Formats: sequence, C-alpha cells, structure tokens
Amino acid sequence: MSSLVMRRSFGLRFVAIAFAVVASIGLGLAQGDKAAPKAAGNKYIGADKCKSCHSSETSGNQHGKWLATAHAKAFEKLGTDEAKKLGKEKGVDDPQKADACVKCHVTAFGVAATELKAKPEQLKNVQCEACHGPGENHMKARFAAAAAAGDNPDTSKRQVVPEGEIKVEVEPKDCKVCHNDQSPSFKPFCFHERLEKIQHYDPRSGNKVESPLTACPCDDKCECKKGACAKLPQKQ
Ligand code: HEC
Ligand code: HEC
Ligand code: HEC
Ligand code: HEC
Repeated sequence: MSSLVMRRSFGLRFVAIAFAVVASIGLGLAQGDKAAPKAAGNKYIGADKCKSCHSSETSGNQHGKWLATAHAKAFEKLGTDEAKKLGKEKGVDDPQKADACVKCHVTAFGVAATELKAKPEQLKNVQCEACHGPGENHMKARFAAAAAAGDNPDTSKRQVVPEGEIKVEVEPKDCKVCHNDQSPSFKPFCFHERLEKIQHYDPRSGNKVESPLTACPCDDKCECKKGACAKLPQKQ
C-alpha cells in the first residue's frame, strides 16, 4: 500500500475480500479459481475503451481529466518545431519516427505485438495504460459485472475491483520510467506536485493527493525537498 497518497478505500476493499473469502468457503471453494484474475493474456486496449466507463462526472470523469493533460498530446508534441529543435541536438530528423523520442511519448512502447489488442495508432500519447498497465481483463470483468447488475445499477457506491484486476497504485518509480534524465527536456520530478496536476480521483472514493508539505519527510531522500520542505519551519 503506497503511503504517498491518502487512500481510504483500503479498509473497504479488505472487508470486501474477507467477505468474498468467507463466501467462497461457504460455496465449498468451487468459485476459487474463477475469482482470481489471470495475468496472462491481459492486453493493452487503448484509452478509447476506458472512455466508455470512465467519463461520467459522478465517478470523476478520468477520461476527460486525462484529455486535458499534456500526456494526452505527448505524441503530437513530437511533431512541433520545439521537438525538431531538441531532436536535432540528438541527431534525430523526425522525432515522431525515432524510437529515441517515441519511446516515452507513447503507450506500451516495446511491448510484444501479441500483448496488444489496440493498434499502434490507438496507443499514441501517454494513455491510461502507461500508468495502470494493460486493461483488457479489467474491461471484461467490469462488463460482466455491469451485465449482472442489470438495468438499474446503484451508482452511489463504487464497485469493488478485486486486487490484481488492474494496477491501481501508481508510484514514483512508475513515473520515472519516463520522467528521468534520458529525456532531453528533463525537469526535476517531485511526485506529489506532479500528481496534483494529473490527479483524477473518483469523488466517491475519498482518495486524494497528500500535500508534499506533509507527505514528504524533510530528509536527504526527499526529492521534493527544494520545493516543499523549504516552506516548512526548519528543525533545530
Ligand atoms: C510513458 C511515459 C510517461 C509516464 C509513465 C509518465 N509520464 Fe508524465 N509526461 C510524459 C511526457 C512525454 C510528458 C510531456 C508531454 C508534452 O509536453 O507533450 C509528460 C508530462 C507530464 C506532466 C506535465 C508537465 C507540465 O509542465 O505540464 C505532468 C504533471 C506529469 N507528466 C506527471 C506524471 C506523473 C505524476 C506520472 C506518474 C504517475 C507520469 N507523469 C508518468 C511521459 C510520461
Ligand atoms: C526517457 C523518456 C523520454 C525520452 C527518451 C524523450 N522524452 Fe520528451 N519528454 C519526456 C518527459 C517526461 C517530458 C515532460 C518534461 C517534464 O515535465 O519534466 C517530455 C517533454 C518533451 C517536450 C515538451 C517540452 C517540455 O519541456 O516539456 C518535447 C518537445 C519533447 N519532450 C521532445 C522530445 C524529443 C524530440 C525526444 C527525442 C530526441 C524526446 N522528447 C525523448 C520524456 C522523454
Ligand atoms: C500518468 C499516469 C496516469 C495516467 C495516464 C492515468 N492514471 Fe489513473 N491514476 C494514476 C495515479 C497516480 C492514481 C492514484 C493512485 C493511488 O491513489 O494510489 C490513479 C488513480 C486512478 C483511479 C482511481 C481513482 C480513485 O478515486 O481512487 C482510476 C479509476 C483511474 N486512475 C483511471 C484512469 C483512467 C481511466 C485513465 C485514462 C483515461 C487514467 N487513469 C490515466 C495515474 C495515471
Ligand atoms: C465496462 C466498464 C469499464 C471499462 C471499459 C473500464 N473500466 Fe475501470 N472501472 C470500472 C468500474 C465499474 C470501476 C470501479 C469503480 C466504480 O464503480 O466506478 C473501475 C475502476 C477502475 C480503477 C480503480 C480500481 C480501484 O480499485 O480503485 C482503475 C485504475 C481503472 N478502473 C482503470 C481503467 C482503465 C485504465 C481502463 C481502460 C484500459 C478501464 N478502467 C476501463 C469500469 C470500467
């Protein structure tokens, strides 16, 4: 469990898992293997698929919020004069055609074709699955749950997504796959400050970004030190 963000759903999720375990014991464990999501065969499906379920305001409109971030235009950015100038310094003619640039400006770069359900065209830009991993199993499970819930689902509560169905906790190291000094325009990366800019929490979850002022201990390991800890009263 990441301590970098305030997640209130953990308790709830734990209770739900405990309930599911008790329920499956009740059923003589017959459902046990069905309940476990299979990691194998989980493919990248592209952000357009997530859009169908993640664009309502009630649940936080993750797709709309993502569209408004630089991540959603990261590939187009490689076609700008600014990019061509940066490219030239690296001996690159067309950044949109050079792996040396494309690798951090698209989703699932370098992933085997057998693990992609979406076409490369549909995986341009830094999409949901760049941070949350492949979403095929999650999509299938949620469509099945929606079908089971019938015509009048209770949208006041969030559905409980079993652990492992999709990657939920995204940590600083997941961002630093791209936000590192291999980027020709690298700027120091303070996770909490950056997360604030791209956050897309569901208002019903109660989760929120913890302020770097309280989340980040003012020691040598804190990368937010310059920005955040400078604002704190210094310990004697
Ligand atoms: C697959 C690579 C990749 C990953 C993973 C990634 N980013 Fe980015 N990020 C980019 C690129 C490329 C840009 C620049 C896009 C542009 O300017 O067009 C960017 C831009 C940003 C910006 C906008 C900067 C600005 O000044 O407007 C923020 C904020 C940001 N990222 C936060 C994050 C956070 C937080 C994470 C992890 C939770 C993350 N990123 C993960 C590639 C990535
Ligand atoms: C290691 C990953 C990585 C590689 C490789 C990479 N970029 Fe980026 N790029 C990023 C990230 C992350 C950002 C966002 C910068 C930030 O906010 O720190 C970015 C931002 C940009 C921007 C927006 C300007 C800015 O300051 O935000 C341009 C233009 C750009 N990259 C062009 C290129 C070009 C051209 C190449 C190839 C020569 C390239 N990038 C290679 C990760 C990468
Ligand atoms: C740059 C990385 C990044 C991208 C792109 C991204 N997310 Fe997230 N997402 C995160 C992080 C970080 C969290 C917070 C994780 C935590 O609280 O531990 C999160 C949380 C969530 C949550 C949980 C909300 C809650 O209230 O707990 C949902 C749902 C979600 N993302 C869906 C999406 C969808 C759908 C897209 C694409 C339209 C998307 N995300 C794109 C990084 C990303
Ligand atoms: C068929 C509908 C559907 C599709 C398609 C879908 N989701 Fe979800 N997703 C849900 C539901 C339902 C939840 C549970 C929260 C709720 O009730 O809104 C959820 C929750 C999540 C969570 C948070 C899980 C948690 O435990 O807090 C993430 C992250 C997420 N989705 C990402 C994605 C991404 C990324 C995609 C596309 C690759 C996607 N979703 C596609 C319906 C869907």
